Amino acid sequence: MYEGSGSEERIIHVCVNMDCAMRGSEALRDRLQAAVDEQGADLEVNDYVCFAACEQGPNLLIEHKRAFYSEVSEADAEGIVAHALDGPPVEAIDKSSSFIAKKIFNMLDAGFKPGDLSLSEQT
Ligand code: FES
Repeated sequence: MYEGSGSEERIIHVCVNMDCAMRGSEALRDRLQAAVDEQGADLEVNDYVCFAACEQGPNLLIEHKRAFYSEVSEADAEGIVAHALDGPPVEAIDKSSSFIAKKIFNMLDAGFKPGDLSLSEQT
């Protein structure tokens, strides 16, 4: 796994599209937000729509860490937040070396901003 340049925004993007939502991603997102709030962490939790890894969801991206996780459960929330705050990765669910993760990181390198496609910004 490699990390980004540090210029990325400190955002955890959680897929809430249908397949991930059916596997509990909305509850995961809420648990992540609660963990961020409890710690007063300088992190944003963002609703995202589909990383094209639907069958492995719930999926999420920690943008500034260049970390991609699959099959994430609510029980992983504290570990994910810790990683986003410079702790170690949650190795059991870390898919940052996967094909899809590398494609996402290439898009970030090319200037893609996942937040631009977020549900949070839509009305
Ligand atoms: S539905 Fe979550 S990655 Fe596609």
